[in-house]
Amino acid sequence: MLIKSPVKSALKESQVTDEGVYNGRRSLLKSMGFIGAGTLLSNSIATSANAEGFGLFSSDEVKTFEQKPLKYTPANVTENSEILTPESKVISHNNFYEFGTNKSDPVNNSQGFNVNPWSLKISGEVNKPFTLDYDDLFNKYAIEERIYRLRCVEAWSMVIPWLGFSLSEIIKQADPTSKAKYVAFETLDDPKQMPGQRSRRVGGGIDFPYVEGLRMDEAMNPLTFMSVGVYGKTLPPQNGAPIRLVVPWKYGFKSIKSIVGIKLVEKMPPTTWNILGPNEYGFYANVNPEVSHPRWSQASERRITAGGLFSRNRIETLPFNGYSEEVAHMYKDMDLRKHY
Ligand code: MTE
Repeated sequence: MLIKSPVKSALKESQVTDEGVYNGRRSLLKSMGFIGAGTLLSNSIATSANAEGFGLFSSDEVKTFEQKPLKYTPANVTENSEILTPESKVISHNNFYEFGTNKSDPVNNSQGFNVNPWSLKISGEVNKPFTLDYDDLFNKYAIEERIYRLRCVEAWSMVIPWLGFSLSEIIKQADPTSKAKYVAFETLDDPKQMPGQRSRRVGGGIDFPYVEGLRMDEAMNPLTFMSVGVYGKTLPPQNGAPIRLVVPWKYGFKSIKSIVGIKLVEKMPPTTWNILGPNEYGFYANVNPEVSHPRWSQASERRITAGGLFSRNRIETLPFNGYSEEVAHMYKDMDLRKHY
């Protein structure tokens, strides 16, 4: 489908993120020389400049990625359930540096992203390595809906109805050896399709491919989810199509997108944001209101809702993003100030 002006529903990042935090996270990248004044311009200016610069589409004609409906078991919604963040915001306010560092860059620069064929390789310390192709992602495991809070380290949050299956299903199928202590994840490395991988300036100075990791017990926790869809359909590229991780008690940067590799390993694997700023982003990255980011507090967050205005919807951040009952036991012997 061809449409005009794809970003009408896009929020300005400044509408949902404290200006201090917005500029703060970028100052790390800027200090490394990867963000120029251009990135701090208003989104609309930066976006149109970027999009045309990449030559992906002309400024008034954009191909929209086609999301397919999925069959799934719906989540149990109770009276106490939280209000979902509108779909229009879930799919337009994103972090996906492979497509640019502004919040509207992913939706604007990823609509031609090709997800089929896809190949997700499960390997490493396993007795039965295997590879999933595009169709396997939607047919091998029973797909269910999980409504999770997503808390970004930048202190904004959403409530999102994901579709997918537990990561533990994949891991069990691979039959881990006794040496498997961690799980390492890797995003697609395809500079032709991902403008941020072609230019260190556009990609925020990240050394791609984006990598992440979990300890084995975290990976096997029933909450840890492989998402192949959102809001009843397959994922759009900006949210990590065709398959991404969702770890709801950790800051959003752990939830790596567009995964092509899952490797079980003996040693703690390197992770992208920890490599970029080890004093600011730890391996564990559990949501913790008591441990501030060195440059901003994590005690509260802005919930992105239908309104989503700059100074509204400020709520308290909960330990483990409200999932303590399910996950706190995994960290009972750890100093979470040290292991942030
Ligand atoms: N995965 C990749 N490959 N590249 C990224 O830049 N950003 C992370 C995470 N996964 C990122 C990524 C960050 S910082 C966040 S907050 C979440 O994706 C955002 O997910 P969403 O855009 O679906 O809300």
